[in-house]
Amino acid sequence: MPTPVPGSSPVSSGAPGAPSEADLLAFARRAAADARLVSSLPLDPEGRTWMRLNGPGDSEAWLIGWPPGSGTGWHDHGGSHGALAVAGGVLTEHSLAAPLPTDGWMALELADGIDRERRLSGGQGRAFGAHHVHQVRNASAEQHAVSVHAYYPPLPLMRRYGRSGQVLRLEQVEWPEEWA
Ligand SMILES: [Fe+2]
Repeated sequence: MPTPVPGSSPVSSGAPGAPSEADLLAFARRAAADARLVSSLPLDPEGRTWMRLNGPGDSEAWLIGWPPGSGTGWHDHGGSHGALAVAGGVLTEHSLAAPLPTDGWMALELADGIDRERRLSGGQGRAFGAHHVHQVRNASAEQHAVSVHAYYPPLPLMRRYGRSGQVLRLEQVEWPEEWA
């Protein structure tokens, strides 16, 4: 696995014609409302499933199936901004109300009151900025969830974090080769 170089990651998102957060959210909502597309995703009770979509511009987009109890753990998006929209079921997002620096730290103590929780059900979505840190989970005991996610620029990497109380600790950096 390559070693991340401090200061190397934030990626310009201001290129002409680059899809904005609003563009990505509009795409995610449209795709999530496409019943034929959504029903074409195979679902697996044992784990998440995914299908690559053609996002707007040169964005990266995915249709994802979440069996009951599945989730992502805390992560960022390597400096990309993005959006997600739920097609079916309910996803719970835990996020941090402050943008975090993406590079140059291994552990951060989070301020009290920084946590946010939102539940997104069919037709609902949200966009997020380049420094968004969150975890997404299908908390249902019996119902699958399906959602659409779009990122721009395409994810250069993802940082995965462990959390203990108010301490967020960098645990792993994942590269696109690992989830292609
Ligand atoms: Fe995410």
